[in-house]
Amino acid sequence: MARKSPDKKYVHSQWSSHWAFILAASGCAVGLGNVWRFPYLAGENGGGAFVLVYLLTVALIGIPIMMAEVMLGRRARQSPVNAMRTLAATEGTSRHWQYLGWLGIVGGFVILSYYSVIAGWTLAYIFRVGSGQFALSTGDSVRNIFAEFVGDPERLLAWHTLFMLMTAGVVARGVQSGLEQANRVMMPALFVLLLVLIGYAMHTDHFGAGLAFLFSPDFDRLTGAGVIAAMGQAFFSLGLGMGAIMIYGSYMPKTSSIVSATFTVALTDTLVAVLAGVAIFPLVFANGLAPAGGPSLVFQALPLAFGQMPGGAFFGALFFILLVFAAWTSSISLMEPAVAWLVERHGFIRWKASAWVGVAAWLLGIVSILSFNRWAFAFDFLGARKSSGLFDLLDILTANIMLPVSGILICVFSGWVMRRAHSREELDIRFPRGYNVWLALVKYVSPVLVFLVLLNLLNVFNLF
Ligand code: PHE
Repeated sequence: MARKSPDKKYVHSQWSSHWAFILAASGCAVGLGNVWRFPYLAGENGGGAFVLVYLLTVALIGIPIMMAEVMLGRRARQSPVNAMRTLAATEGTSRHWQYLGWLGIVGGFVILSYYSVIAGWTLAYIFRVGSGQFALSTGDSVRNIFAEFVGDPERLLAWHTLFMLMTAGVVARGVQSGLEQANRVMMPALFVLLLVLIGYAMHTDHFGAGLAFLFSPDFDRLTGAGVIAAMGQAFFSLGLGMGAIMIYGSYMPKTSSIVSATFTVALTDTLVAVLAGVAIFPLVFANGLAPAGGPSLVFQALPLAFGQMPGGAFFGALFFILLVFAAWTSSISLMEPAVAWLVERHGFIRWKASAWVGVAAWLLGIVSILSFNRWAFAFDFLGARKSSGLFDLLDILTANIMLPVSGILICVFSGWVMRRAHSREELDIRFPRGYNVWLALVKYVSPVLVFLVLLNLLNVFNLF
């Protein structure tokens, strides 16, 4: 069967403006990672000390790699696989670089499969918290309600199905009327909701305690595993290495400045993570709960806190709506690379490509659903007890292994393989020495730091 030649370049649409890119990429970055993952990781790893390592990682590793990923996408203007193939051809190097594109597409697809399951929980909790189910509940009852919920695969499947439909529905509508429109509405709404919730948290007597926890570093509680977690979280939260930022970059107008867009997106992402902590910890402290609640912080400690506070059902529902918006704008970015690839490589029309990717990710999501009940098993990973078997393994495989590997490869390609004239032209950094600083970071600093983290992760080398 004659396949369409990948060299005949399919022309994708573009964002309508510089700001549309910033909104969309912020939507990709701001997700469950910021509101669900960041606060509990900070809670488990010494609050302020973790936040400090996180900020350093974003500056030294996150921003340079994000610039590189956007740059590669925009230069090639194709889905990650074909982008890497074309770029490698231009640089006169091996076609195998296309596997970096594959790493992104497959990784993003796997994340999408379990991300949709957790996002489904947040949908369910809008109604649970909003209906006042947690009013005056106790720690035990909240725990039981959660255990019963995740113990019921059919229920999880129903919410997962709904969320996957919501995601595919947006992606099917295309770059401008789907992705761009969704971000235009949801991102500002998310900010407003976050500010409302911070206002609510200010009314507890423990606002100061919440801030102190987040901003005063307690280095005794930060372990080597905590440092690794901070780096993994920075990658996950910025949405790096999974083709999402690359494909979003490929829709960016040529006139946009990559530097200013990247800084804005990284800043927004970090701000939302910190603000989510500011909104969450005072509620946790006000109700005498422990900050190190683990992944269940949002689904147990918070419903308990909302259940005990005036107006809690209303504000609790708002909180979970915020989470759904955050998750939704990220899940569409996780689906887009695979969809763009089907469209450009196999000539699928968009809605068909979205349906295929949606169904496949939905099926894989069932593995994660069953990990919380029928197939559950526990294991230890870097000193932490993981109890949701395959779900945890998929999370570790993607967030802790595939993301950093892909990050290193992006650095190697853009720093070592690509001709300087090309990266300099595409990045078009205006301030003096800016390009040299970026180049030094992606050539030496970021890949070496990420590599050390990987080595340590694989227990080859115990550095920390
Ligand atoms: N950044 C998203 C979050 O914080 C998740 C994500 C990861 C999105 C990788 C795209 C690529 O939830």
